[in-house]
Amino acid sequence: MRVFDFDRAIVREPGRSVVNGLRSDLRSTPSFDGVLKEHRAYVAALRAASLEVDILPPLEGFPDSVFVEDPALVLPEGAILLRPGAPSRLGERDDMRAALHRHFDRLLELNDGEFADGGDVLVTPQTIFIGLSKRTNRAGAEALRARLADLGRAARVAETPDTILHFKTAAALLDEDTIVATKVMAQSGIFAGFRVLVTPEGEEGAANLLRLNDVVLVGDCYPRTIELIAREGLDVRALAVSEVAKLDAGLSCMSLRWARAA
Ligand code: GLY
Repeated sequence: MRVFDFDRAIVREPGRSVVNGLRSDLRSTPSFDGVLKEHRAYVAALRAASLEVDILPPLEGFPDSVFVEDPALVLPEGAILLRPGAPSRLGERDDMRAALHRHFDRLLELNDGEFADGGDVLVTPQTIFIGLSKRTNRAGAEALRARLADLGRAARVAETPDTILHFKTAAALLDEDTIVATKVMAQSGIFAGFRVLVTPEGEEGAANLLRLNDVVLVGDCYPRTIELIAREGLDVRALAVSEVAKLDAGLSCMSLRWARAA
């Protein structure tokens, strides 16, 4: 089984409060209808890629809760309930705990003071990268590495370049040996040993793409990246992301994906 082979996913419908989600540019506010439309197309793409999708109801008290990737990390071996580093998002873990219990026999957790967002975790066949960021602190990264070791997985802690919200804002796994990354991330040397495809200038947001089985989801506003991936012989599906991008989010952020253990 490849690390991008998945048959299950958890997503959460956006609440109307999503328009108040965290964002670096307060002048850019998404519309609820726009986010909802992008989310529905995203769920349809997950299903088209053969994933069974559990859709959680909106959590109006947590504007960013549509980005389910941040409060948890899921693997065939078990799930880890994380502690999102933004204070407004910490409470998302309570509802997520219940959802994870429905799907996983093994559920590990981080402790007080240990902060990590799933957006900072990149799973590759060789290792799991945990990016230090404004949301993931050293204690959280080390605790997560220890929990992953409990699940039998090797991980390494890496620096996320300062200007980037999450590690996966700027990098994604395309195949077993290939990472797609922004120039800044590629030049950091983090991915030594991988083949790295650099996103074309002006298309840095495309690095938050999502490989699902034999399909690659890419933002539809990144034509040169779509061409780059298509040249790799992969089946590319373009999805609208302009509304969620206003919340500094992208395609990986809106789902938790895993394959049932063989
Ligand atoms: N708006 C997504 C996040 O900041 O977590």
